[in-house]
This record gives sequence, structure tokens and C-alpha cells, in this order.
Amino acid sequence: MKYKRMPIEAESPEELGYGTIECNLAESSVSDTNFKDLKFNIKDIPLCYGDHKGLPALRELLAADYNMKPEHIILVPGAAAGLFIVSTALLNKQSQLLVERPNYATNIETPRLLECEINFIDLHFEEQYQLDLYKLSTMAKSKPTLISITTPHNPTGSALSEEELLEVIELARKHNSYLLVDETYRDLSFNTPPPLAASLSDRVISVSSVSKAYGLPGIRMGWIACKNKRLLELFLAAKEQIFICNSLLDEHVALHYLQNKSKFFTPILKHIKKNFATLEKQMSQSKNLEWVKPKGGVVCYPRIIPKINYNQFYETLYKEHKTLVGAGHWFETDKKYMRIGFGWPTNDQLKQGLANIETTINGLKK
Ligand SMILES: Cc1ncc(COP(=O)(O)O)c(C=O)c1O
Repeated sequence: MKYKRMPIEAESPEELGYGTIECNLAESSVSDTNFKDLKFNIKDIPLCYGDHKGLPALRELLAADYNMKPEHIILVPGAAAGLFIVSTALLNKQSQLLVERPNYATNIETPRLLECEINFIDLHFEEQYQLDLYKLSTMAKSKPTLISITTPHNPTGSALSEEELLEVIELARKHNSYLLVDETYRDLSFNTPPPLAASLSDRVISVSSVSKAYGLPGIRMGWIACKNKRLLELFLAAKEQIFICNSLLDEHVALHYLQNKSKFFTPILKHIKKNFATLEKQMSQSKNLEWVKPKGGVVCYPRIIPKINYNQFYETLYKEHKTLVGAGHWFETDKKYMRIGFGWPTNDQLKQGLANIETTINGLKK
């Protein structure tokens, strides 16, 4: 495998240094949770190897929530690990992948490393970044090994309805493809989300984690959900080769969080709602940015209207205004697009960051 660092990671806020940024609009999650606020007293956790599929109590809790069985869930160190496991287990030089673009970089980069054939289904601003199901059905005729989608989507915030999801699942069934659904943002859907995709068919693999919705990326805890026994065995084999088991500390913290979810999650949702209203107001007034209103998650993918020097824009925004956004090239699109994360900053930081974007563009207009 010829590993190469991805811009989204190399240029991430944590790599640049959080101290260099005052308005961090580059995050794709809600604000980070502090361990002390969880009021979790770690006292009696044996630091042995854990259950290879993951902590049974946590798998039971997730399975009940998803209307699946605990044996359908494999806990992994973050959704990123889940995506890596699924790609490496299912794709090789002889396989074909049909994947959305733009996308969370790993969903494209790992398949690329595996040298499988990749066909992109592009999401367009002009189509509200919605997945074009007609185009997908045409492209799926080539019988891809794996179809890979994300809902709610990063970086655009578009989302599939249950009807649309069922259509994609039917396509996968018809063409004997597996379907990977990255559902990392499911709990941040603005409307009631469809059932977890993996609960709907044994051709589907769902991946999710506690990182984005609950602000817990610092415990590396995610999961793969799938009803297909053969796939589960493959995924477990991959997990055992890389990790054997998870950090038991991470598993117990995640369990504690989910057992007390409403207490922790309610204020998060309130914060997102407030920030989203701020964002909506600013976007409706902006003469420099146009956007597609997201349907879920905590990011949107607007574009700059005037023709300016985009490299200069990102540099001035960061260096002079200490404001960071997700640049278009993180997602292999034109740099006039940028990802704005509205869930992570405080309301004041969001307001200031959005004002800094306007000031920077105004300063670069001829
Ligand atoms: C769509 C999507 N999937 C997966 C991940 C990985 O998340 P984690 O490994 O922290 O759970 C991210 C992170 O940005 C993401 O946006």
C-alpha cells in the first residue's frame, strides 16, 4: 500500500495547531466533549484484551436502537477504521467501486490505494447536491462490487429519504453489489432519519461512530453494522489483524455516554439549532457566497460567487483572520467551494468567522 497523507488531515486544525485558529469553521463535528463533563468514574475496568467484536453491552445497546442483533455489530476504533476495514475486505485490483464525489476523503483514498476501478457519481451544487438516482441506476449497470454513499453527507449536508435509500438498496440487490452507507451523521439528521441502512438488507454495510454527533472523536469508537454473516467474519478478521480488540477504556466511555445520551445530547442539539439559525441568516444576506441548505449534519458546502484568487482567500483568511474553513481541494473540487462547519464553534466564533469570510472576499474583489 502506497500511503499518502490526505490534505484534509495534513491541513486539519489539530495539525495546524488549535492555538493558531480563533474561528474554527473547519470541523465537521459538534464541539468536543470534555471527559470531566461525562461524570464518569473509571474505577473497575479490567485492562485485559476485550471481546473481539467489541464490548457486549455496547453492542446490545446499539443493536436495540437499530432494530438489529448484537452479533450484527462490530465495534471499531472510529468510523475511519470501519471504512478502512470494509474497503480492504471487499476491494482489490479486480473490483469496481461506485462512489460519491465530493466525499470524506478516506471513502475515496483507501479504495484508490487498493487500485480498484473507481467510478465517481458527482453531486452537483445545481442539483442541491442530491444523489441522482437515475444516473446511479445507469452507472450501476456495470455491476460494481461496492456502491458507497454517505447520508447525511459530508461535506454537502444532503441526505437521502427512506424511499431513496430503499431505491439504492434495490439497485445494489439487482446488480449483486454490496452497499456501504456511511451514516456517521445519522443522529444529526434535521428530520427523522430512515432506519439504519444495514437493518434493511443483508447486502448493506453501515458505518458510524460517536465522533461527529456527540463530540467524542478523542475516544476512537465507531462500529460496522451488517446482517451478512460472511461479511461480518471478514470484517472481524480484518479487525483482529489490525487491532485485535478496541481500547476497553474507549468502549466503556462510549457505553456510559450512550446510556445517558439524552442528558448529554439535548444541549448539543440546542447549540446546533442556534448556530444554524445564525448561518442561515448570514447566507441569506451574503453577496459573496451562495449555498445549498443542508438537510442534516453540521457542515454545508457553499461556493464563492465573485472571481477571486482562491489560494489567496484561504491564506488571508487563516493568516490574517485566524479563521479556518475546509478548502475545496480537501474534497477534490474547485477551490471556490468550501466546507463551513457550524456545529463546533461557539455562536460568537461562528458569527466572527462568517464575517471574516465576507471581509476576506471583499478585500480580494477587483
Ligand atoms: C463521513 C465521515 N465518515 C467517517 C469519518 C471518520 O470519523 P471517525 O473515525 O472520527 O469516527 C468522518 C470524519 O470526518 C466523516 O466525516
